[in-house]
Amino acid sequence: MNQDDMVVQRALAVLAPASHHYYPIAIAKGEGTTVTSMDGRRYLDFSSGLAVLNLGHSHPRVIDAVREQLDRFVHTGGVYYSETTVAAAEELLSVTPPGLDMLFFGNSGAEAVEAALKLARYTSGRQGIICCSGAFHGRTLGAVSVTSSSSAYRRRYHPLLPSVYQVSYPTCFGCPSGLTLDSCGTKCLEEISRLFEHQIPPEEVCAIILEPFLGEGGYCPAPKNYLRGLRSICDQYGILLIFDEVQSGIGRTGKWFCSEHSGVVPDIMTVAKALASGFPLGAVVASRELMQRWDPSAHGSTFGGNSVSCAAARATLQVIKDGLLDACQEAGSRALTCLQGLALKNASIGDVRGLGCMIGVEFVDAAGAPDSRLCANLIQECQDKGLIMIGCGLKRNVARFIPPLNVTPGEMEEALDIFATTLAELS
Ligand SMILES: Cc1ncc(COP(=O)(O)O)c(C=O)c1O
Repeated sequence: MNQDDMVVQRALAVLAPASHHYYPIAIAKGEGTTVTSMDGRRYLDFSSGLAVLNLGHSHPRVIDAVREQLDRFVHTGGVYYSETTVAAAEELLSVTPPGLDMLFFGNSGAEAVEAALKLARYTSGRQGIICCSGAFHGRTLGAVSVTSSSSAYRRRYHPLLPSVYQVSYPTCFGCPSGLTLDSCGTKCLEEISRLFEHQIPPEEVCAIILEPFLGEGGYCPAPKNYLRGLRSICDQYGILLIFDEVQSGIGRTGKWFCSEHSGVVPDIMTVAKALASGFPLGAVVASRELMQRWDPSAHGSTFGGNSVSCAAARATLQVIKDGLLDACQEAGSRALTCLQGLALKNASIGDVRGLGCMIGVEFVDAAGAPDSRLCANLIQECQDKGLIMIGCGLKRNVARFIPPLNVTPGEMEEALDIFATTLAELS
């Protein structure tokens, strides 16, 4: 048995089956885009540790900042203040969309979503929450109540949060109404009017929550006009618009936050994953006016805003400020062009879509139906050839291309080459 397998065996004995791992690889070292396994195999990591490592593994500036913090102190627990935590908040708020100028730190994406929902209910005095089909917002009970990318996340946990209503996510590829983006007039927004008419009046709705770029549910960016339409519905009825940027934020789409592509500013935004380059940190961000109506003790966290994570976050944001948004756009557009070219030659690719380094490749069979088998086989074969990728989508037929934002042209070329060769072999 090799070393990786031995670690897997030990893990299976002590880690609950719910602690899911995609691959039987045990990592010995991570550096930039590269992972080396305990057996000495080299992989290109195009999963970025589930969209977390936007600077790649162990970026030296992040590691230095963490070391420096470790030498001073680790924990405050809200008993006293930490200048490092304040500095990380200031750094993050220097790049958030206009008007989003105060935040609450937690430890994860799900916690940020919980906080966003609590903030919306608390400050509005309303209960209703509207979310989108296919969304993934996390696994705590509040977050899972607005998640529907798979019933596996909800099975045996009912009853979930009450007063949660669902509308379709504006997925354009295979639009359920058979419409196309250039002429649909964002007809899917009408679902919200129907909800107001038949199920919950707008004055009882506190928030609409969605991912501006659907992640786990299939890697689909929401059309700009859809987000603009949502903004005006929220303005009309005094509903808070929550954008979950846990996966799409911190430079992933070539802008600090995906919402910037549409110019729509939400009332509340959630951030986590890439915020601290792998150290646990999440945040819910809103206007000072809204945050000041969330009273002391209405929310809290012992570990949220941990100084070590905040040192990592501050360094992460500073590294991205040094030209990584442009680098991400450049790398992403090269990949998008190459993958779209591949789609022209290969009918099993139904759609390629993305922004920056957040790209989805959707596989279909000869009848145009989702081809999850091809997608799974392709991802497995790519792993065998040294390229780590992960899938997503309601039918698990979408491959995610999410390299670090600072992926080199050579690494991108190598990955695209493995992907194209493997697809040709399987087709
Ligand atoms: C959009 C989105 N929101 C929330 C979460 C939950 O984050 P976490 O796993 O850190 O709780 C995820 C995780 O994948 C996510 O993609």
